[in-house]
Amino acid sequence: MELKWDGTERMTVDYVKGILQPTPTCDSWDQIWDFQARPDDLLICTYPKAGTTWTQEIVDLIQNEGDVDRTHRAPTHVRFPFIEWIIQSIGSGLEHANAMPSPRTLKTHLPFQLLPPSFLEKNCKIIYMARNPKDNLVSYYHFHRMNKALPAPGTWEEYFESFLTGKVCWGSWHDHVKGWWEARDQHRILYLFYEDMKMNPKHEIRKLGEFIGKKLDDSVLDKIVHHTSFDVMKQNPMANYSTVPAKVMDHSVSPFMRKGEVGDWKNHFTVAQNERFDEDYQRRMAGTGLTFRFQF
Ligand code: A3P
Repeated sequence: MELKWDGTERMTVDYVKGILQPTPTCDSWDQIWDFQARPDDLLICTYPKAGTTWTQEIVDLIQNEGDVDRTHRAPTHVRFPFIEWIIQSIGSGLEHANAMPSPRTLKTHLPFQLLPPSFLEKNCKIIYMARNPKDNLVSYYHFHRMNKALPAPGTWEEYFESFLTGKVCWGSWHDHVKGWWEARDQHRILYLFYEDMKMNPKHEIRKLGEFIGKKLDDSVLDKIVHHTSFDVMKQNPMANYSTVPAKVMDHSVSPFMRKGEVGDWKNHFTVAQNERFDEDYQRRMAGTGLTFRFQF
């Protein structure tokens, strides 16, 4: 597979079935769609910036029963192949996944309708983590600023519009969370919320352990809570993306481990933007049964 983009310029984007994606993902779409899942694969799925890395770190610690030495074996993107991600200085997530021995824990941001069908055919377990859209938007905006593997975000006002209209990579937040929500009862999907994890990590980690099939005693749970707290992960080079070349992710613009809070959107949204966002949200989320917490 040819990996053309090298981080010198900003990533370009194109559409896959109506969803914006980085161009290398579009160019390899047929191979991504044909990805062959294995029955013991575990898939972590999120809309970008919903807490993917946090979930990955928790899952790895659960699988390794709290053994931090084992989770320090490699950076996040090496431990968990990102199946639709193809970056020259980092590699092809697809090839990485194909070469990985089982059992694999994989990552995707794909909306439900773009999930390679073999994950469902093989009845794989899937963990979906969702985050309230206002904080998700703010986090995505700052991530665009620091990450050349995404297009430049434009001004805050421009990015706000792009997010609301779904003209961002991996498409509309609303469609993403709704698509996976509707699918959760027909498949082996555990649907989690960032805000719940923040509010009561021990409870949510126990739930994750049960889903994965690991019974964890209290001391292991406490250890996992500690090692996956924002402050500890921020200092962990295997979980904070500091090993990615600076020409791709520039943490001096905005660190990957930025704030990790619920309600930071209040420091960004104007009153008018908030009203517009709420009106749009109520219209698009009505009748879904999905509720998000925007503050504590
Ligand atoms: P902020 O930009 O709001 O700080 P992803 O891993 O999906 O890219 O999501 C990144 C977001 O999750 C960032 O949000 C990051 O700070 C936050 N995050 C990562 N680890 C976290 C943790 N242990 N606790 C809380 N938030 C965390």
